[in-house]
Amino acid sequence: MHGKKILITGKNGMLGSSLISNLKYNNIVGIDSTIDLTNNQQVCKKIKEVKPDIIIHTAAYTDVESCETNQDKSYLVNTLMTQNLVNYCINQDILFVYISSTGIYGRSKDDRYNEFDEVNPTTVHHKSKFEGEKIVRNHLNKYLILRTGWLYGGDKNHRKNFVYKRYLEAIQNGTLYSDNTQIGNPTYISDFVEQIEVLIENQQFGIFNCVNSASNISRYDYVKKIIEFFDIDCEVKVAPQGMFKRIAPVSHNESAYNYKLELLNLNIMKKWEVSLKIYINLLKKGLE
Ligand SMILES: NC(=O)c1ccc[n+]([C@@H]2O[C@H](COP(=O)([O-])OP(=O)(O)OC[C@H]3O[C@@H](n4cnc5c(N)ncnc54)[C@H](OP(=O)(O)O)[C@@H]3O)[C@@H](O)[C@H]2O)c1
Repeated sequence: MHGKKILITGKNGMLGSSLISNLKYNNIVGIDSTIDLTNNQQVCKKIKEVKPDIIIHTAAYTDVESCETNQDKSYLVNTLMTQNLVNYCINQDILFVYISSTGIYGRSKDDRYNEFDEVNPTTVHHKSKFEGEKIVRNHLNKYLILRTGWLYGGDKNHRKNFVYKRYLEAIQNGTLYSDNTQIGNPTYISDFVEQIEVLIENQQFGIFNCVNSASNISRYDYVKKIIEFFDIDCEVKVAPQGMFKRIAPVSHNESAYNYKLELLNLNIMKKWEVSLKIYINLLKKGLE
């Protein structure tokens, strides 16, 4: 199995770079945005050259706020770029892994979503990601659609590393404000990478939630834990209403649980505090 060749899109992204460093496969090719995946010819040329057994498609337009005011770019990158890759995989023996988001469930309930819940995305970003999912489902048999959320981990200096950013803010400011109205699952990329391997090794196909386990955890709870684990003298306060005004109407509930992984006895994602502690201890060692 480890002889398989893997193509990873978004190789410099937070997840793509972690997959390249941590997947236990020897034959991995990563591609970045110098190859424009919205261009069908470039896509075909590259895949033909690499001849992958598996494509893990992490590349996406991920700035939820900016997607809201750039609808065309959002559908071009998140939906049509996915279509280009999928077109190539039709009738080919390639496993296509599409990284999606628990944000696509929208706001139909207050509790954690499972894979059988209705999907009703509320933002342009999540709508365009869901359209990407539909293309994968409608055209391919060998696919995994993995819905994750609130990712952290990997390189501490990555622009999207939420945990390290809060550390820097805390040592500079002494007080942090955080939103206690939005809930989700802080998810450690290293756990996610391992879970992807487990799914591939067990020859699973279909849609799976892949998050660290968390119940009713707000951004405020998350930031408080980050500061506690770093052991920094910093007060975390609940942000007053309106402090973090967003353009995108993101659901108050992005939380999920790995119902299908649980049923299949394949869930290896840890409790969110356990993984957060592991990652922060690693960061602390690097800071010593
Ligand atoms: N981060 C989260 O909390 C989270 C939550 C749920 C789902 N996800 C999903 O997980 C995946 C990875 O997210 P991430 O956090 O690693 O995102 P990221 O750090 O923003 O990486 C996205 C990558 O996509 C590449 N890209 C963008 N447009 C492209 C284009 N036209 N052609 C080729 N490459 C292009 C970018 O390349 P350049 O760097 O070269 O510009 C970037 O490296 C995404 O599909 C995202 O929707 C993430």
